[in-house]
Parts: sequence; structure tokens; C-alpha cells
Amino acid sequence: MKITFYGHASLGIQVNDVDILVDPFISGNPNASHINIEQLKADYILVTHAHQDHILDVEAIAKRTGAVVVSNFEIITHYEKLGIEGHPMNYGGKWDFDFGTVKYVNAIHTSSFPDGSHGGQPGGFVIEGEHKNIYIAGDTALTYDMKLIPLQTKLDLAILPLGDNFTMGIDDAILASDFVACDKILGYHFDTFGYIEIDHEAAKRKFFEKEKDLMLLEIGDFIEL
Ligand code: NI
Ligand code: MN
Repeated sequence: MKITFYGHASLGIQVNDVDILVDPFISGNPNASHINIEQLKADYILVTHAHQDHILDVEAIAKRTGAVVVSNFEIITHYEKLGIEGHPMNYGGKWDFDFGTVKYVNAIHTSSFPDGSHGGQPGGFVIEGEHKNIYIAGDTALTYDMKLIPLQTKLDLAILPLGDNFTMGIDDAILASDFVACDKILGYHFDTFGYIEIDHEAAKRKFFEKEKDLMLLEIGDFIEL
């Protein structure tokens, strides 16, 4: 499993020959100007919630690639009206895709489209694929529901928001990594706007002090599990 960071909460996940994009907000991110969305491959686009900083490039990439959008029922209904194929899910639901299974799990946040219309409830994803399991938290507060995840899934990586203000901050993300029982963390949702800037070295040190490994990738860099 190869995981590429495209800035903010945008990820590319490659499982065998399948390309999955998560929350593409790239063309509107000045820090990601070196990433060309026209060149991104996508068989699936996973969307955690309807906020602009998670959906900006979904329509353009889905229409170009024919990717299937996977998200909550309300977001899928929105994209189906635009002629985009979707796979609707809701909390607690799990589905076997050709790359592995995806479970849509709780996130404590909100989910409105940029025009103010209802974007369902926000979520996160647990992906089990190619013998590697990951949790993509989405925009969320720390929540006890995270403790449900390790009852069923042994995670190899937890992808957690760190920026604070709109989501968990660093201290809560450390607790979240305890809740999901995973000491390998990829941080996201930081630095894009003034409200969510973090001190990278201080963040890494705080995780290290708890014997956890926080990775912060440059935009365009990847890790392999
Ligand atoms: Ni949000
Ligand atoms: Mn966000």
C-alpha cells in the first residue's frame, strides 16, 4: 500500500493496481501548486464530508477519470445529480471493493456543501487492503467511538488531523492514537490556512515522547506500508 500526501487532507492510496484519492483539495491549495490534478489517477474518490477543503476537485477528477465516489448517502446523491457514479455508505457500514474493504465510521464535525446545502454527516474511513489496514479520521474531534476500531481492526497506520481549531489538535491526536491502538501516525489537515498552522518539530517531539512515530510528509511525497 502506497500513500501519497497531496496537501491538506488530500491523499492518494495505491493498493495493487487500484488508485484511490481521498478528499481532493489540490487546485485551491497554494502549497500544492506543483501537483497537477489532470495527471492524478483515480479509480475511486473517497470523501469524508462536504466541506470545500475536502471536495474542491472531486467533480473535475471524477468526470475526467470516471472514478467512483465513495461517501455518505447525501454526498453521493449530490454527485449522482452531476452524472458522477457513486457508492453511498453510512455509519457502521462496510463494503468489499476490489482493493479491499472500506468501513464508514463516525467523525465529530459538520458537513455542509459550499452553497450551504446539507452534506449528510461527516465520517472517516477504515480501509483494510493488501494485508495493511489504515484509518483515515477525516475532520474530527477526539471521540470515544475511536475505541471501537481496534476491537475489529489492527491498524498499520492512523491518519489524523493535527491542525486544531476545526479538528483535533496535537494533544488530542496523541490520545486518538491510543484509542485506535496505533503508534504509527501520518498527520494531515495542518498549515493550509492561518488557523491550523503547527510547529512540526514540536509535534513530532510530543508524539516521540509517548513512544509514537508521527510522520509529516512534504506535499507530493509518499510512504509505503
Ligand atoms: Ni471540515
Ligand atoms: Mn477540513
